[in-house]
Amino acid sequence: MRLISKRLLIIGGGIEQVRAYELAREMGLFLVGSDRSPDAPALKLADDKIIASTRDPRASLKAVLEFNEDQKIDGVMTLANDVPLTVATIATSLGLPGISIASARLAADKLLMKQAFSRAGVPVPEFREVFSAEDLKVAIKDWGYPIVIKPNDGRGSRGVLKLTAGVDLSWAYAHAKDNSDSGRVIVEDFIEGTQYSTESMVYKGCCYTACISERNYELIDKYAPNIIENGGTLPADINEATSHAIEDVVASAACAMGINNGTVKGDIIMTPEGPLVIELAARLSGGYLCTDQIPLARGVDLVRQTIKLALGQELDTAELVAEDICKLGIRYFFPEPGCIEKIEGFEELSGLEWVSKKMLFLGVGDIVESPSNHTKRVGFVHAKGNTFQEATQRAIEAAAMVRIETVPL
Ligand SMILES: Nc1ncnc2c1ncn2[C@@H]1O[C@H](COP(=O)(O)OP(=O)(O)OP(=O)(O)O)[C@@H](O)[C@H]1O
Ligand SMILES: [Mg+2]
Repeated sequence: MRLISKRLLIIGGGIEQVRAYELAREMGLFLVGSDRSPDAPALKLADDKIIASTRDPRASLKAVLEFNEDQKIDGVMTLANDVPLTVATIATSLGLPGISIASARLAADKLLMKQAFSRAGVPVPEFREVFSAEDLKVAIKDWGYPIVIKPNDGRGSRGVLKLTAGVDLSWAYAHAKDNSDSGRVIVEDFIEGTQYSTESMVYKGCCYTACISERNYELIDKYAPNIIENGGTLPADINEATSHAIEDVVASAACAMGINNGTVKGDIIMTPEGPLVIELAARLSGGYLCTDQIPLARGVDLVRQTIKLALGQELDTAELVAEDICKLGIRYFFPEPGCIEKIEGFEELSGLEWVSKKMLFLGVGDIVESPSNHTKRVGFVHAKGNTFQEATQRAIEAAAMVRIETVPL
């Protein structure tokens, strides 16, 4: 028999949320999962479920309020799901710990977020809202090529394009707009430089960055104008000064968004003048970073800490401080688009003691789409190493072992 202490609501029941459900069960919590699909995989681990679209704050709140009449919820959280407004709306309405609705609004609106950063002196690329292809021409005239166009409320890099000479501006504008729920589109100056991803817990106003990973964009030209990440390595191969500069800018960005307690995931670019913030998501990351990579390489379990924070429990800040346990290289698989005919070498990866995780989302007969955004990923491998270079090389080697043959459609 399980001794149930508190009731935790996890927003989203997808495959990337499974770890949080498992952990919450281990922690003896009564677990309520929400998802628009009753068959969502993580919901099988929940004690009870709420069926509502996680992307619809009002519908989610209505369903949660009904549930809460009979069974009081003690905490709400999410991970790997870009729904800060849903979480904040529920937390605020039920009087539970969480970021404010005002902070969540900034997190869900790239324009508002960048305006808040600019006001607070947090360095960001030049940005503005655009309403037509004509406006794109003006931005290009002002800043020069390349520029980035993106939906104001996008995620998973859907509709994000790097515009260089020759890209059809009318098409690009329509593409970004089509990928925006609100129909709003922004442009930014494209910043050259190494890209980093950060994952931090802000607790009582202090920002503890558990991980800075270096993102790999060597395929950016191949898949242009889409901006496609090919993997990365963590922790980043940077000196202490760079590390501190990135940590500081993340802390300032979180403060500018009014986040005193909560997890933040940063997209950062390093320039000769210092780091610039592309954005700060008010949540734990996807891509198995918070559930697998950071606990393994850095010894910090941000999922556990997020559960505790959601329930209003005190955190032990010593558990937020990262260790350097190992390095991890990550590579995604990029088969040619088409119908999968044959897969070789994937299962064999389990025989390599340094492969810590591997996943393949498609099988024979499935269709590989052109990688226009990060939701089109086919699979990945994580490889441990003693050095940054070793982990990177091993990830490259492991990814090359996986041969996914397709026939063009
Ligand atoms: N101004 C910029 N300069 C250079 N690269 C950029 C810029 N804006 C975005 N990018 C690149 O495009 C990626 C996706 O952009 P952005 O994070 O704004 O969109 P998103 O839909 O939120 O994507 P994700 O969910 O992957 O973070 C960034 O992680 C970064 O690599
Ligand atoms: Mg982003």
